[in-house]
Amino acid sequence: MSDGLDRKWLFKPETGGGMKVLVIGSGGREHALTLKISKSPLVKKIYCAPGNPGISSLAQRVDIPIENISGLLDFAKKEKIDLTVVGPELPLSLGIVDQFEAEGLKIFGPSKKAAQLESSKIFSKFMMKKFGIPTARSESFSDFASAKKYIQNSHLPRVIKADGLAAGKGVLVAKTCDEALLFLQKIMVDKIFGVSGENILIEECLEGREISILALSDGENIVLLPEARDYKRALDHDQGLNTGGMGAYSPVSEATEELRQCVLKDVFHPMIRGMKKEGIPYRGVLYAGLMLTSQGPKVLEFNVRFGDPETQVILPRIKSDIVPLFLASCNGTLDKESVQIHKETAICVVLTSGGYPGAYQNGFEILGLDQASKMENIMLFHAGTSSKDGKILTHGGRVLGVTSLGKDMKQAQTLAYDTITKIHFERMHYRRDIGMK
Ligand code: AMP
Ligand code: GLY
Repeated sequence: MSDGLDRKWLFKPETGGGMKVLVIGSGGREHALTLKISKSPLVKKIYCAPGNPGISSLAQRVDIPIENISGLLDFAKKEKIDLTVVGPELPLSLGIVDQFEAEGLKIFGPSKKAAQLESSKIFSKFMMKKFGIPTARSESFSDFASAKKYIQNSHLPRVIKADGLAAGKGVLVAKTCDEALLFLQKIMVDKIFGVSGENILIEECLEGREISILALSDGENIVLLPEARDYKRALDHDQGLNTGGMGAYSPVSEATEELRQCVLKDVFHPMIRGMKKEGIPYRGVLYAGLMLTSQGPKVLEFNVRFGDPETQVILPRIKSDIVPLFLASCNGTLDKESVQIHKETAICVVLTSGGYPGAYQNGFEILGLDQASKMENIMLFHAGTSSKDGKILTHGGRVLGVTSLGKDMKQAQTLAYDTITKIHFERMHYRRDIGMK
């Protein structure tokens, strides 16, 4: 090989440990988590509930929905699962960690109370203010008339956020009074997000470039993971609607060691120490969505889980075995761990169903996967796929994540986009500017 990349770590070690791991979720993030966990010599068997066709080559799929906490608990007890890793926010916000721990099962993630850092934007903002963490100024409202009056007397743009979980659709950066009032009407009066929109935040609008920095914590100690940049809008050059994420890359040039240390000191330390002091210790992965403003990094949001598609570029860059890190987060021993990072650049381009994030059609056959998966330094992460009669079909808005590794951004980009030319399904859409300036 002439490009000097070390590929040995891409393959599973031959030795086998004895652990049984359960991964919860069914997206590209969970495929990336399962792949990374499968490389651990500590692990004998992986289950994934409910998983997807891509995951099924690495783990046994279990047909239990992510919100069926008692079903998942029964399964984990019956199979004597040694470690459960939760992908999405919903089971965390429903208290899966509390319920597993009450039965003596090891599970990686925050408690229901700690998960409020994502499940309630008002709680999260309250904690940020209390602990002096840099973030946008904001006011909270629980009745439509006061929120309307506040908007009518504000300088726009302002950012309106539903308090609760809204599948990434609960935020509007409002440039005009009309669109702000329409959004308020939809969430507070028409209740399009149900109880999630009963309370809202109105924030000052921050300017700058966004970056996601994730860290592991055991309630006290913190280990930073590689940073990533996510592309939220559906179309090139950040046009179109917000989505769950159309692509990502890591590392991000703005994330100098100085910036990462600043975020550790000003964001993660105060949050983890503060939560411990409040009697709500935070264990698991904490994701800080940051705006790099002229006054320094400010927090836009916290997520209490790995990002999707950020995970598809962060995990391939981690050299260390992830399983001891997850265990250390559960056991309170992260002070004894560190994370070794590969220097390579990873990019992920998400292939979506035409129409996403609006209405789209399922059931188109995905062609070219075999050929694409043979490419070196390429990982194809399944998200919205299903299988029927030996064929892989589209089954969701975000269908596949094509992740590549290269010695630099240019090499990684060329490889990812070359691979995409081999894949086809009807009405396939993707952004052509992932990783471009
Ligand atoms: P959130 O779910 O809170 O991260 O918001 C979703 C997206 O809305 C963010 O990734 C930003 O692009 C944008 N956003 C959120 N809060 C602000 C803010 N205060 N100023 C500017 N943009 C924001
Ligand atoms: N890609 C954004 C998120 O996972 O929240």
